Amino acid sequence: MTRFAGCDSLLQLDGTERNNPVCVDGDVAGDRVALFAANSGFLGTRASLMLDVVFVAMFLVVPVLGVSIYLVKQGRYALHKRIQLTLGIVLLAAVMAFEVDMRIFTDWEKLAEPSPYYRTDGWSTVWAALTIHLAFAIPAAFLWAFVIIQALRNLPNPPLPGPHSASHKRWGWLAAFTMVMTAVTGWVFYWLAFMA
Ligand code: HEM
Repeated sequence: MTRFAGCDSLLQLDGTERNNPVCVDGDVAGDRVALFAANSGFLGTRASLMLDVVFVAMFLVVPVLGVSIYLVKQGRYALHKRIQLTLGIVLLAAVMAFEVDMRIFTDWEKLAEPSPYYRTDGWSTVWAALTIHLAFAIPAAFLWAFVIIQALRNLPNPPLPGPHSASHKRWGWLAAFTMVMTAVTGWVFYWLAFMA
């Protein structure tokens, strides 16, 4: 634990200098985990560890999703199934870890304060970007669960085209589109809030 020049009261856990570190008063020991979560992002921006993890993860999720859809069009149905189930589990784990970070450890608004697009006293570009992001991210989560459950219930095992195909394609494309938009709008929000 080191004192950090940017904090009037104290400190930063890992001792490395970062822009706008999160500082706490008083009960340092009790705030160790929160300090670690908020200050240990690895991209060198103001974002927390989990924000950085999700930011980078979406650069993998989008191309993998593209490859999976390409493969299914080549008739590689079982591989498509395996990739989609893996992506579903990875995304679920990421969302859960992210929610724990945001609800318990990291005050993202504090990290966004230095941004010229953020205002402490009301509506701002950062809030608009977050609203647009959530307008895709929340439906995406439900659509993915829906598409996966329906596919597991209604497509044969091992997976092959069948009576459920038309519905799966329609909802599958919608689910894929919302996930891509979730990634793009998430990157925009990240830039506005934690890089600008
Ligand atoms: C959220 C998860 C998933 C998404 C976003 C998704 C997306 C898609 C998309 C967009 C297509 C249509 C490709 C085209 O236009 O030809 C497709 C086809 C297909 N998917 Fe998925 N999929 C998902 C999960 C699954 C799962 C879990 C299975 C197996 C249990 C599966 C089996 C298939 C099969 C067999 C086809 C071919 C249908 C046909 O050509 O008649 N998918 N998927």
